[in-house]
Amino acid sequence: MSGLLERLGVELPVVQAGMGGGLSLAKLAAAVSDAGGLGTIGFVAPDRLRAEVSAARERTTRPIAANLLLPFTRGPHWDAASTADVVVTFWGRPRRRTDRPWLHQVGSLEEARAAVAAGADGLIAQGVEAGGHVRGTVPALDLLARLRRELPEGFPVLLAGGIADAGDVARALDAGADAAVLGTRFVLSEEANAALAYKQRLMESRETVLTELFGMGWPARHRVIWNEAAERWLDRDGRQPRWLSAAQWASGPLVGRLPMGASARLAASQTPARPFFGPFAPTADGPSNLLDAGALYAGESVARLHDIRPAGDLVRDLARAA
Ligand SMILES: Cc1cc2nc3c(=O)[nH]c(=O)nc-3n(C[C@H](O)[C@H](O)[C@H](O)COP(=O)(O)O)c2cc1C
Repeated sequence: MSGLLERLGVELPVVQAGMGGGLSLAKLAAAVSDAGGLGTIGFVAPDRLRAEVSAARERTTRPIAANLLLPFTRGPHWDAASTADVVVTFWGRPRRRTDRPWLHQVGSLEEARAAVAAGADGLIAQGVEAGGHVRGTVPALDLLARLRRELPEGFPVLLAGGIADAGDVARALDAGADAAVLGTRFVLSEEANAALAYKQRLMESRETVLTELFGMGWPARHRVIWNEAAERWLDRDGRQPRWLSAAQWASGPLVGRLPMGASARLAASQTPARPFFGPFAPTADGPSNLLDAGALYAGESVARLHDIRPAGDLVRDLARAA
């Protein structure tokens, strides 16, 4: 495992990905960290982010990470995230605005170079298999090999995408990753704040689609499972009508700048018949329309996941062959 994680006191090479919009909060992050992995609070409004970090600290004395999605990050987000032990960023132009150890998730060699030049302490290499928003265009292990050839020996690189079990974690470590980063597996944990019906859909699903359908306010590729909105508007390859892409790009700057409360209210009015789909996923405390009219994010590993388990058990199990 990387010196970076060891110095922080993370015992096991298992990291739970930050999942925004209220999917990964204190309960999940603390359960992962308490079991010896590194749990991450997902991107939420600054006050809530700060409150979730502090709630996680009440549940565990182990290190906690906070995730920021850079296109939507302002100064107060950095301040709130810096109350965590590690800041993990994704998307957009990487820049250091924290004195905490800083990891940036990348999908290519070019993005890795930009993050290293900006002073990142480590990288997460994201493969195309990943769930959620996807920068990767090649399988995770291929990207890792490219980064390892390019980066100085010992530079921390974690691996994300397609990791479901202990065998996958062991393969990632053998290939030179410092730790494994998992999103989809942890959505299927008891502590994840995803709606139960979303978790149930994941357990039944075998197939994902890479699309831009849920791109109102954030026109970007993401991997989801099929639901009514996706069936209605996408072809089998995940392509949406061209006019919809044009509408997303035209309205992106405006819709993307809405405060989170306003975006959440818009999300609550989404229906499968009206193609105005923002990036929100169904949470346990959110509106139920998002099950058929929102993004059911999942990576390709969903085909191999069929149970909901306590996050601490998952961490111990995933690290068993490490
Ligand atoms: C439900 C879900 C939500 C996600 N949200 C975020 C996010 O808010 N920020 C982020 O950096 N990555 C996010 N990701 C991507 C993860 O960081 C990671 O790349 C991905 O989960 C790895 O692939 P896996 O899902 O196959 O484990 C999300 C992934 C999932 C599955």
